[in-house]
Amino acid sequence: MLALKCRVNVIIVTAMFEIIRVENFSPSTFLWEVIAPEIAQAARPGQFVIVRSDERSERIPLTIADFNTDEGTITLVIQAAGKSTDQMRAYRVGDSILDIVGPLGEPSEIENFGTVIVVGGGLGVAPVYPILRALKLHGCNTISIIGFRTKSLVFWEGRFRDYSDETIIVTDDGSYGQMGLVTQPLKEILAARHVDRVIAVGPLVMMRAAAETTRPFGVRTIVSINAIMVDGTGMCGSCRVNLAGEIKFACIDGPDMDGHLVNFDELIIRQRRFVKYEKQSIEMCKNRCQE
Ligand SMILES: Cc1cc2nc3c(=O)[nH]c(=O)nc-3n(C[C@H](O)[C@H](O)[C@H](O)COP(=O)(O)OP(=O)(O)OC[C@H]3O[C@@H](n4cnc5c(N)ncnc54)[C@H](O)[C@@H]3O)c2cc1C
Ligand code: FES
Repeated sequence: MLALKCRVNVIIVTAMFEIIRVENFSPSTFLWEVIAPEIAQAARPGQFVIVRSDERSERIPLTIADFNTDEGTITLVIQAAGKSTDQMRAYRVGDSILDIVGPLGEPSEIENFGTVIVVGGGLGVAPVYPILRALKLHGCNTISIIGFRTKSLVFWEGRFRDYSDETIIVTDDGSYGQMGLVTQPLKEILAARHVDRVIAVGPLVMMRAAAETTRPFGVRTIVSINAIMVDGTGMCGSCRVNLAGEIKFACIDGPDMDGHLVNFDELIIRQRRFVKYEKQSIEMCKNRCQE
């Protein structure tokens, strides 16, 4: 195993990383627990890794959804969103992945802020979990709002209850918890009592809605920007974000950013810039697999 220290405490590790646990949350969402002791040791809530499954794979940024320094493992929760993440579904316990770079990005700010609402939407529930846990362990009063499309997609409810003073679950179709979007209970709580900070992680449209919900209340709102990343070290410019007119890079200045300053409209357009090629890539892969 080769471990190099490079800029801002990033550990680059090249080795084979064994998957010791696979858990399927739904047909498209799954968890890997991977042996990566150096990364587990260095990881902080809010950081991510870039994974390359084999020598022909794309580099895929994934948030460190959990890390265990005793066991030397990191946990990744992955949604099959396109060709590469779909191919990753085929990995089983005992398989290895080629390389992992990380931990990357700035850790989340963790301190006793007072009352904090942690909002997770869909897959965003996984990355926000270590932030919630750290905030609780630092003495915050924590309220969790986690939202899913439907009951069968709900995961980690128990983990959230363990570190939340209050847990609210919402589903779009009302099949579990409250019916509706995460922004509904968020608005109700903000209108009813004092809240010191909101942390929202999920799809860009959800984070934009959360930031717009908190804006009139003047509550500091942190979002985690999952812009398209290539190198993950601030060199390519792919993940640039317009933060109140200033250009920032989500991979080194974030992923956490002030949700009231992010230009989400611009970001959402940029996020779709490769859609044509992503579709072609899925089609080509399907055809090759059928041969
Ligand atoms: C900091 C960060 C943390 C992330 N954490 C997670 C996570 O914990 N779990 C998870 O399932 N996904 C996570 N993602 C998103 C994940 O990286 C993409 O879903 C994945 O790269 C898609 O690759 P694909 O080939 O399967 O799909 P594609 O068909 O190539 O793309 C599907 C969609 O994913 C997005 N995407 C594509 N390539 C990238 C890229 N290089 N960087 C970011 N987004 C991309 C685009 O919106 C695209 O439309 C994270 C992204 C970032 C930037
Ligand atoms: S991914 Fe290249 S600058 Fe952020």
